Amino acid sequence: MFKTKVTQMLGIKYPIVGGTMASISNADFVAAISNAGGIGVLHSIMYQTRDEFAAALDRVKKLTDKPFAVNLNFFPARFPVSQSEYTEVMGQKGVKVVETSGHTAPPPELCRRFKELGMIWIHKCAGARYAIKAESLGADIVTVVGYENGGAVGNLDIGTLVMVPTVAQKLRVPLIGGGGVVDSHSFVAVLSLGAEGVIMGTRLLVTQECPIHMKLKQALLNATELDTMVIMRSVGPHRVWINEVAQKCAEVEATGASFEEIVNLVSGEATRRTYYEGELDRGVVPCGQGVGQRHDIPTVKDLFDGIIKQASEIVTKLARS
Ligand SMILES: Cc1cc2nc3c(=O)[nH]c(=O)nc-3n(C[C@H](O)[C@H](O)[C@H](O)COP(=O)(O)O)c2cc1C
Repeated sequence: MFKTKVTQMLGIKYPIVGGTMASISNADFVAAISNAGGIGVLHSIMYQTRDEFAAALDRVKKLTDKPFAVNLNFFPARFPVSQSEYTEVMGQKGVKVVETSGHTAPPPELCRRFKELGMIWIHKCAGARYAIKAESLGADIVTVVGYENGGAVGNLDIGTLVMVPTVAQKLRVPLIGGGGVVDSHSFVAVLSLGAEGVIMGTRLLVTQECPIHMKLKQALLNATELDTMVIMRSVGPHRVWINEVAQKCAEVEATGASFEEIVNLVSGEATRRTYYEGELDRGVVPCGQGVGQRHDIPTVKDLFDGIIKQASEIVTKLARS
């Protein structure tokens, strides 16, 4: 029932992209998402050397024979990597799908290189004008996320319900939509708005295979739609889970903190301690408004199979009514 242009182009079973997540989307998690019928997106900047990155690609390929993608990061980063060098590594390793995201589109020469290497290029953004720009640069698929999104929300503050159809009407290439997709209802909603696929991040944090600490998974299970806030307005707005450090970030920003002060607060060792040691108030955790809508910790496969089964029932019921 849910065969779309996106499933055809990417060669995947379900039109579901597992949103790339900084410090989380490692080879094993990406492979689990791809093996479950969606497409996992490796977060390349997690690997600070060419050799580590190449080894991560080898590991994904060892763990799955299904399609997967690699994200190239165009957000400001404390420790950037060379996008052109990493693109060449991806070419050598036979990566077929590249996703870009960030405050800017990739430079035109890199966009051309994606094509020369035969990759499908997906660009993720948070607004119609950026989507149109990406299409004009040659993006094969565009992903757009609304204000509910976990992580970067852009500056426009447009919710998914308006964002997705607005962008779908303006593009010729297929669109993936997200921000708040957590279950069969939001899956059907986003497809009905004109997307050919959905992206989900926050819901995947609370799965068996997600590598974060169980204490953090439990805390997110107990969270509600009121437990996120947008911080970093001055450097690039991000929706995050409300904890002590998120509130501290908002406080220092209000007093005109510098880019360095903010970035030092929201990244690095503190984030690792929260994700992997379960110290809940140490680091900032990107998190969407869909958090807490479900109260179980399924495998990714059970999550995706359940979404598709219930989505089919919803569509059938709607058609009968
Ligand atoms: C913990 C976390 C980390 C994320 N890190 C990134 C990132 O580094 N780069 C990026 O493009 N998107 C990042 N995202 C956004 C996701 O890829 C995806 O667009 C988003 O989660 C979809 O919205 P949802 O969270 O409402 O499902 C992150 C999201 C979360 C929840």
